[in-house]
Parts: sequence; structure tokens; C-alpha cells
Amino acid sequence: MKQLLLTREEEKIFDGERGEAAKIAIRLLYSLGELGGASRLIPIKSAHISGVSYKNIGEGGIQFLRKISHKVSVPTSLNPLGFDIEHGGPVTIDEGFHRKQMEIVEIYRKMGIMDSFTCTPYYFYNEPAFGDHISWAESSAIIYVNSLIGARTNRESGPSALASAIIGKTPDHGLHRDEGRRASVVVNVDEPLDYTKLAALGLYLGPKLNKLIPLIKGQKKAKSIDLKALSAALSATSSIPMFHVDGVTPEYQLISDSPEVINVGSSEIEETISKNSSQEEPELIAIGCPHLAPEELEYIAQLVKGKRKVGPDFFLFTSRDVKANARDAVRTIENFGGKVFADTCMVVSPLSNSYAKTGTNSGKASFYLPLKGYGNQKVAFMGIMDLMKWVVA
Ligand code: F3S
Repeated sequence: MKQLLLTREEEKIFDGERGEAAKIAIRLLYSLGELGGASRLIPIKSAHISGVSYKNIGEGGIQFLRKISHKVSVPTSLNPLGFDIEHGGPVTIDEGFHRKQMEIVEIYRKMGIMDSFTCTPYYFYNEPAFGDHISWAESSAIIYVNSLIGARTNRESGPSALASAIIGKTPDHGLHRDEGRRASVVVNVDEPLDYTKLAALGLYLGPKLNKLIPLIKGQKKAKSIDLKALSAALSATSSIPMFHVDGVTPEYQLISDSPEVINVGSSEIEETISKNSSQEEPELIAIGCPHLAPEELEYIAQLVKGKRKVGPDFFLFTSRDVKANARDAVRTIENFGGKVFADTCMVVSPLSNSYAKTGTNSGKASFYLPLKGYGNQKVAFMGIMDLMKWVVA
């Protein structure tokens, strides 16, 4: 029995009166809504699309995009792709990959999607507000905007976020409703954690919680930038759509009546870091998964200012607008001998064309880079100060 009721205009789209692409889009939303128990579609303020790198979506993805190509009806941003369009890199790619990647970019451009090419579109491009209903793909950004901003999105896939961008609506279920946002597990952490340790907490908790929303206690001083690392690591290892941090995130008081309790101490964090880290000397230090904020670039610039670079290559990843807003920091890092890339990232670019051993402070990258389809890398996962020891004389 149908439970999702469409308006008359939505029925017309469903019946194909607004064209084939819109029909495919609304039918996809309808099916997802029926599965999720939604009774209606609700308007969204923005969308964010993943599935941009040719490395990830391949020929099948291009064919799907051609079929569904249609103007979007809300502001829509786009995830990173396989290389830096304006400046090239981070590694050499073949002509076939370049051509296919640009074909994908052109399809998205024709749809009216912005050239953001970042997994942190909430810096400058597409910043939702508390309570906004949105439809976002890119799991690390989904957790971040649900948790840190209080915007409302389910964990959408590239195709479902694109369908929502075209129709301007999403099914009203899951994270769009208060009951879908309650914590059902309390996680007591016994010491304040920095960026890399929060990433390790995410790697540790992901498989344990699977999709349960946690309320994390003991991190009252955690900053948004550090919680971005937790967002990414949790997103890589679980289906969790959001977390709450006691006293920090805007909806931390949303908690179910009798939550489970998990205690995490420094030994679990240290063990997770060492389990995810190879002992091999890196050929490349890569920072910026998720993409860096201006203040992170400024922090790194301070660490390298006036110093001499040695050892492995030193690559940072961010978006074009963040680069433009941190121009001085970028210049300092480039004078030191580092490279700052936009549009792409260490995971979706074909890094293994040139590197086999990478050092990073990203829990998400430490999870993906060793996988065969993502780079087959030996990864040294460690804090930023330890990474800097490889490159600063
Ligand atoms: Fe972003 Fe790429 Fe990491 S999309 S979260 S930098 S894997």
C-alpha cells in the first residue's frame, strides 16, 4: 500500500510530464521515501553531490549522469574529482582519465551545479543553517552538518542527492525528524582529544556503533575543526549519520530514555592509531582529508615559515575558495616546498600512480588509502607534529 502521498505537481513529474530526467529523479525519491516510511516529500534548501571522480564512478556513472542530466532547482555543490583542474596534479594522469573526468564535470556544469569540488562545501560555497532541510551526499560532510550545524540530511548517495537537487525536495523521514536524531549510546571518553585522536575515536567507534547515534562526553573543549576529523573517520567506518558532543553540538540534549554506555580510554585510542599505521617511511605527507579550512592552512604555514624542507613530498588538499582566502598561508607553504591542491583529494585522485607509502593525520584516509581500489598504500597515521618531523629540517 502506498504511504507516500504526492502533490498534483509531483504526480505530473512522476508521470513524465516534465521530462524523462525529472521522472527518473522523482521516482528514485519516491522509492526511497516508501522504503524509509516517509508520508511526503519536503522542500530542501541545498544539495551536495558526491560521485564526481572518474576513479570512483567510471563509465557506468557517466551513463547514469547523461540520463538524469537536468537543471538543478536548489544551490548544489560538488565533491572533489581526480585532479586539480587549474594547476594539475597531485600526480600525472593519462589523457583518457583526463577526458573522462572533464566529461563528468561538464555534465554537472550544464545542470547548474557549482564548481566547488570539495568535501567541505560548508566553507564558503554552501553553508546550511540550523534546522535547514538539505539533501547531501559525501558521508563526512553529512555527519559534520547534521552534528555541528544542526542542518538536517539523511545519508544520501550521489544519485539520491542529485535527484533531490533536480526536484528540490527529499522524503521526510530519518534525520529530517527529531526522533531520527536522538542519541542512543553514551560514550564516555576519559581525556580531551586532539584532531588525530578524535579521528582515532571515530575509527574505534564506527564498527562498534554501526549506525547508532552517540552522545560523546568528556570533550567539552573540542573545536569544530577537530570534530571534522571525527566526522570523517566515523563516516568511513560506519553508517552513522550524526553524533552529539555533550555541551558542544547544538542538539546534544536529544537523547533516548535508556541509552547504552561505552567507556573509551587512552589505551583504546593509542591502540587504534598503531593498528592503522604502518611503520614504513612515507614517500609523501598528505594533509587535508577532509579538505582544510583557512585556519588549518594558516596553522601549517606557521609551522613551516622560514624552515627548510627535507624528505618526502608535502601535499595539502583544500578547495579553491579556501585557497583564495588563505593566500598568504598558501604562499608560505609553497615557498617552503609544499604544494596546495584544490578540486581533488588524496583518496579520489590516482595517488598510487606515483606513491606507495603515505603519511597522514586523517583517520578516513588511513582507512581508505590501504584498500586496493583506493590506492593500495602503506599508510603512516599520526599527529601533525609527528608528520612535520619528516619534512622540516
Ligand atoms: Fe574529502 Fe577526499 Fe577525504 S572527499 S573526506 S578529502 S576522502
